[in-house]
Amino acid sequence: MTDIFDAIQKSAIRIKDAIDVKDIGYSQQENSSGETQLQLDIKCDMIIEEEFSSVASIHTIASEEKEKEMLMNKDGKYFIAYDPLDGSSLVDVNLSVGSIFGIYENAFGAKNMVASCYVVFGPRVEMVFAHNKAKLHLLQGENWEFTKEIRLNEKGKLNAPGGTQQNWEPYHKEMVDSFFAEGYRLRYSGGMVPDLHQILLKGGGLFSYPGTSDKPEGKLRKLFEVFPFAFIFKTAGGGAIDGQNDLMTIDYAHIHDTSPCFFGSKYEIARVKEVYASNK
Ligand code: F6P
Repeated sequence: MTDIFDAIQKSAIRIKDAIDVKDIGYSQQENSSGETQLQLDIKCDMIIEEEFSSVASIHTIASEEKEKEMLMNKDGKYFIAYDPLDGSSLVDVNLSVGSIFGIYENAFGAKNMVASCYVVFGPRVEMVFAHNKAKLHLLQGENWEFTKEIRLNEKGKLNAPGGTQQNWEPYHKEMVDSFFAEGYRLRYSGGMVPDLHQILLKGGGLFSYPGTSDKPEGKLRKLFEVFPFAFIFKTAGGGAIDGQNDLMTIDYAHIHDTSPCFFGSKYEIARVKEVYASNK
């Protein structure tokens, strides 16, 4: 899997440069040289596809930006689902964004996941790669340096509640409020990568994106967002559920399927489970 890890690291350096330009292509108009500007997330998708195309062990890729999966090498064994630039609408307000990768063996699906990774583009560029352990790496110039292993505490202090409040179930609102009543602090930027990165690095807490009256299956995508982070949280000693079930045990039917999701340390996840079990 080292070749995949290297390709992700190379693509992250190129994405960092792609973000750090004046015109991020929202206009989709011609630039000063007369070329049509690509939207930033499409550009990032192309960068990753290009880096993965030279990795023989990759069988198939699926991107949040592509409607269908794409065969790369029929003799490869890894299936990679990625979101090239999650939270891309935050770039114009200069908040952190990220790329997310789920690495599956032989086929897509939570049960086939063998590793996952994300890169956060903030004031610094950092990468978390989870295989047997969840490891943090920092980009220094053109080099990636291992920083530390990430382990969650049993209980955290941060609460990141996603979704539109007016569409929350009343019991969900009560649960979110109960964490605040216990002293939890609100931390929500609207970017899944930095929001979850913060919880992972500050020792714990809860990130929730529930099913709501307008989106009963939630917003976040199983293959590109939910499974990769579930794998990382579980590897770091935390939990990841859809309200009831461990996210790493649920199925998917279509590559763009979504799921309600809750990621956190053990204490918060136990509370979510209890609340959701009694409101089935
Ligand atoms: O899937 C895209 C995304 O931007 C995630 O990164 C983020 O967690 C979520 O959507 C935010 O959604 P909302 O704006 O509904 O809180």
